[in-house]
Amino acid sequence: AEHLVIAIDGPSGSGKSSVSKAVARALDAAYLDTGAMYRAVAWLCLDQELDTANEEAVLEGLRDAEFSISTDPDDEAVEVNSNLITEAIRSTEVTSVVSEIAAHLQVRAFLVQAQQEIIAEHPAIVVEGRDITTVVAPDAPVRILLTADEATRMSRRGLQIVEQTDQLPDQELLREQVKDRDAKDAQVNEFMVAADGVVTVDSTDLNFEETVEAVLAVVNEQL
Ligand code: C5P
Repeated sequence: AEHLVIAIDGPSGSGKSSVSKAVARALDAAYLDTGAMYRAVAWLCLDQELDTANEEAVLEGLRDAEFSISTDPDDEAVEVNSNLITEAIRSTEVTSVVSEIAAHLQVRAFLVQAQQEIIAEHPAIVVEGRDITTVVAPDAPVRILLTADEATRMSRRGLQIVEQTDQLPDQELLREQVKDRDAKDAQVNEFMVAADGVVTVDSTDLNFEETVEAVLAVVNEQL
């Protein structure tokens, strides 16, 4: 049977994760959140007090660690060395160091290989991140860039933080943090512009259900 891989990239606040999970459920497919893998490495660095600027130190920590991530869209469990860190990887501390860690090319190579192995194990899988359509699964039968204008992304990210932390973030600070993270991430991978053959879905004027429908429509068209 054909290997169904749906690759979805996009910036912070584009709705990528919630939309990708819903698409996976609709297709009865597995789901891989690659951002959670970079966040798990960031959590490990903070936990072990590794120098995040030192690529060798990060790599060594990474090689010695035991990682696991759920590929069930209804279970977000992430574990490192038997610590359940599903919620901890969403903290402000992790979010503020993750881009620095994701800029180390050998760290990326390590995680990309792990991601490709996970993809190979599933007959159908939705994979989301920043470099899935271009690096991790450039041959995927369906490749999508999910975007939204900046104001929309900022307000969605704000709502997400309220859900995750029960706290209302400072709007100006949030804006600065999101812009800073996107700018750092964009130096490593271009994810604001669709690569050749990648279909853009702009969710600015779509609600959640409409965005899921739009992505499913692209899946149907491409298959
Ligand atoms: O998607 P999320 O915001 O959770 O990703 C966290 C961070 O992980 C991003 O800011 C980026 O630095 C890194 N990342 C990446 N490549 C991916 C997915 C995430 O570099 N494919």
